[in-house]
Formats: sequence, C-alpha cells, structure tokens
Amino acid sequence: MNPKEQPDQDFAGISPAEFFYRNRQMAGFGNPTQAVYSTVRELIENSLDACEDAGRPPMVTLSTVAEDANTITITVEDNGSGLPYDEVAQAFGRVLYGSKYERRQRRGTFGLGVTMAILYGQITTDSPVFVHTQSSEGPGREYGLLIDIENNSPIVVSEAAQDRCSLGTSVSISLKGDIKRAQDRIVDYLRLTTVGTPNARIAFDINGEIQGSFGPWTSEMARQSIPVKPHPRAVDLELLRRLLKEFRGDTIHDFLVASFQQLGVRTASKLLAFMGIDPKIPTEALTRQDYSRLCQGMRHFNGFSSPDGRCLSPIGEVPFIRGVSSVFNPSLLSYTRQGVFEWEGNPVILEGVLALGDAFPPADTPTLYRLANRVPLLYDASEDVLTKVVKQVNWRRYGFSKPQPVGLFLNVSSTRIPYRAAGKQSLAHISEIEEGASLLLKSLGRFLNGKISSSGAASRNRRKRREYSELIGIVAKYSSALAGYDSPPSTGPIVNKLFEVGEDE
Ligand SMILES: Nc1ncnc2c1ncn2[C@@H]1O[C@H](COP(=O)(O)OP(=O)(O)OP(=O)(O)O)[C@@H](O)[C@H]1O
Ligand SMILES: [Mg+2]
Repeated sequence: MNPKEQPDQDFAGISPAEFFYRNRQMAGFGNPTQAVYSTVRELIENSLDACEDAGRPPMVTLSTVAEDANTITITVEDNGSGLPYDEVAQAFGRVLYGSKYERRQRRGTFGLGVTMAILYGQITTDSPVFVHTQSSEGPGREYGLLIDIENNSPIVVSEAAQDRCSLGTSVSISLKGDIKRAQDRIVDYLRLTTVGTPNARIAFDINGEIQGSFGPWTSEMARQSIPVKPHPRAVDLELLRRLLKEFRGDTIHDFLVASFQQLGVRTASKLLAFMGIDPKIPTEALTRQDYSRLCQGMRHFNGFSSPDGRCLSPIGEVPFIRGVSSVFNPSLLSYTRQGVFEWEGNPVILEGVLALGDAFPPADTPTLYRLANRVPLLYDASEDVLTKVVKQVNWRRYGFSKPQPVGLFLNVSSTRIPYRAAGKQSLAHISEIEEGASLLLKSLGRFLNGKISSSGAASRNRRKRREYSELIGIVAKYSSALAGYDSPPSTGPIVNKLFEVGEDE
C-alpha cells in the first residue's frame, strides 16, 4: 500500500488508572448507587483483611455524612494492622498496587478496589481521600491524596502527624452518590459480612445517627492463611521463567524441589524420568524447548498430591453456623464442606449451610446467599456458577413439593477466585467448582429430606403454644384479681398439658 493511502492514526499508550477511569463499570462503579455500595464494600473488605493481618477481632465502623443532596462522605475505620508510612501514598494513589499478590487467601486480590473508589470520588467531587493510619510501629499520621490518572501515581496534597488513641486505619472518601438508594443493599452486605466473618463487629451510622451494629457472633478467630509455593499443575511458561530467574541453585532437580509445593525429592525424580529429562542438567543449560517440555510434563504427570490447603481460611463449621443462626434465627440448620480440591493447581474449599426458618422467603428452591473468601456477593447472581448449580438440583426430591422457607449459604475459599470481572461480584463457570458445589448440595439436600414437613409442623405448634400461653396468662391475671389474690397462679403446667410438651420442645 502506498504510504499516502494510509489513514492518519494517532497511537498512544494509557496508564492502568486511565484504563479503569474509562472502564469504571468493570470494577463496579458504573452508576452513583452502585458506586456508593462498591465504595463501602471495598473499604470494609480492606479493613477486615487488615484486622486479620494484625490478629485482632475486627472492630469496624462505617459512617456516612451527607454533604449536600447528592454528595456523601464515606468513612471506614478499623483496628487493623495499619500501613507503613512510606507505602500509604502508593497503596491509595496508584491503581494495581497492593500487598496481597502472594499465594494465600485474602479478600483483596487485584490492588484495585480502594483506588477505584478514590478515583471515582476524585472525578465526581474533585476532593482528595483522607487516610489516617497508626500502627504499633509509631505515632499516627494523616494523608490527603489524589491520583494522577494519566500517570497512575499519587499526588500527596497534605501530610501531618496526628495521634489518635487507637491503632488501625481510617479512610474517608467523598463522592457523588445516592445513599438512600444504596442503603438496603449496604445493610444486607454488612449483615452477611458478619456471617462470613462471625468474629467481626461492624457498626453503621448515617449523619452521626447510629443505624445499628452487627456481630460479633463468636470470639473464635479465623484460621490464619499462610503463603505457599505454587502447585506444579499451576505452572505456565511465564511462571516457570520467573521461578527459574529467582532460583539460586544448580540442577533442574533441585529447582523443582525448591520452587514447588507437593514436589519432594522422590516425586521430582519420578517427574523428570516421566519427561525423559536428566535430573543433573543445570538450569542455565535449559533451552526454550525444555521450558515447554517441562510445562507440558508437569501439567500431565499424575503423581502430585492435591494443593496445600494451609493457604486457605474457610469460615469453619461452628463459626459459620453461629453466623447464620445469629443473623437469621433459623429453626434447623446443617453444615457441609467439600475439598480441598483443585482448579488449575489452585486449592478450593467449598462450605455450605442450609437453614430452615421464617427469615427466608418461601420458594421452589432455597434462597441462595453467595460468599467468596468470606465476602458476600450481592450483584450479578444470575451469571454465577453457584446459581447455575442450585438451579440444576431437583429440589422436589428433597421436600420442595411446595414453596419452602430455606436459605442456602455457600462460601468458596481459594487463592484464586475465578471472578468474572474486576468488580468481584460473580464467579465464572469453572467445571471443578461446579462439580464440587453439586456434590455439596446433594449432601445438604439429603439432610433436608424429611425434615421440612416435620419442622413446619413444629414451628406451627410453637406459634400456637405461644399464643395460648399469652391468652391463658391474661385470663389468669384478671380472674385472680377478681378473686382478690395477690398474684396469678402459674399457667405453665396447663399450657404444657394442652400441648403435651416433651423433652425436645
Ligand atoms: N484499612 C487498611 N489497612 C491496612 N492496609 C490497607 C487498608 N486499606 C488498604 N490497604 C493497603 O492498600 C492496598 C491497596 O488496596 P486495594 O483495595 O486497592 O487493593 P487490594 O485490597 O490489595 O485488592 P482488591 O483490588 O481486590 O481490593 C492493599 O493491598 C493494602 O496493602
Ligand atoms: Mg481491597
């Protein structure tokens, strides 16, 4: 083609901050109501991660103040680990920067959440975020920060020493948004957050008026997840290249043992024999073809154990049951767990609680509450793999011949949650997760079998008993007053007799 015929085109690169500024709906900041909800969610998530890092039961306060008809300031304060001063500007003023890229379960994943909220606040109100942080390392400090969107770097507008009497972090963001429309979702989110993190206390106030507080439902601390090495089946050419760059030893055999989990001395020898590679080859002598061979071999060798689950922190049976019981007050409930199983070398644990009670709307299938790494997912349910699996189950077989008030709580724990988008609201259709969830639901369904009708009768019976007890009490009160007695006789035995109460009632 003649160069003169080429159309004029301007080429340019953009920064990650610019990308998310242009595509903010991908991260959950598509409209003012969703932006308020996402800001709350990102701040609370970070606070809970920081409290677990500090090993303290989370005490988190969410406050919102209406600045004018459609501008609000959202502040979340925690008793977490705090941040080193020299990381504050980057952590809050640079998109895709954070402390959670290691291989262990955290609520945060991308290094994006709070910076998106700050960016949204900045473009809608032109005001900086205020971050105050105080750790056991030193006195408190407050920062005012903006993001230079074109260059993806922080602009520090103020910085001053400021001691507060408590340790932790508080983050204040002003943004255009509609708290009234977002409020119900926020309250649902906070309640469900304490189901996933039952040792947390979360308080919520609007314009200085306390709206409520949730938890703690247990004092039991969540199991701390620990960072692990990659599983051999998680390998790809890029990971292999990076691990080889970090390796300070000599042979390929030593490299495999040092760099991967579930790959001890004996397994490494078997793997290399399987691939026909000499275990004594120095890693420096490996060619590009060897890299491909290694990757292929590691993905197809079937002598590895499942991934190490110590990098995960599931809710656990007793805390999960406590959380659901405290928030929904069900009459019956059951817990089951699947895993550790694996997808693409990543460990996964699935936990489920099925609960029966008046708090759940009667329906043909259980009402699904989704959690991922303990975080409730309240948007995009129809696209989620867990919704799909719940729909596939034949619930009539488990007692749903007519609508039933049943809640189903599913929590997926993994070092890599397969979110469909950066807004972290729904899970992609991963076949291993689908199979695991399907097994879990079968086991929970079996528990439900036969219990639904009997528990329905039991709850009707309890209601009737309460009503009779109140009425008989009133009759006893007035008749004893008429007869001139000081106090009415006990009516308990009469009610018990009427309802033939046994030991289990
Ligand atoms: N309340 C807090 N206490 C301590 N550190 C915090 C707090 N909030 C944010 N940080 C630090 O700031 C970093 C960036 O937070 P951000 O929410 O943008 O990303 P993330 O939590 O790592 O991942 P995600 O994008 O999934 O939220 C975090 O990784 C953490 O190191
Ligand atoms: Mg975060």
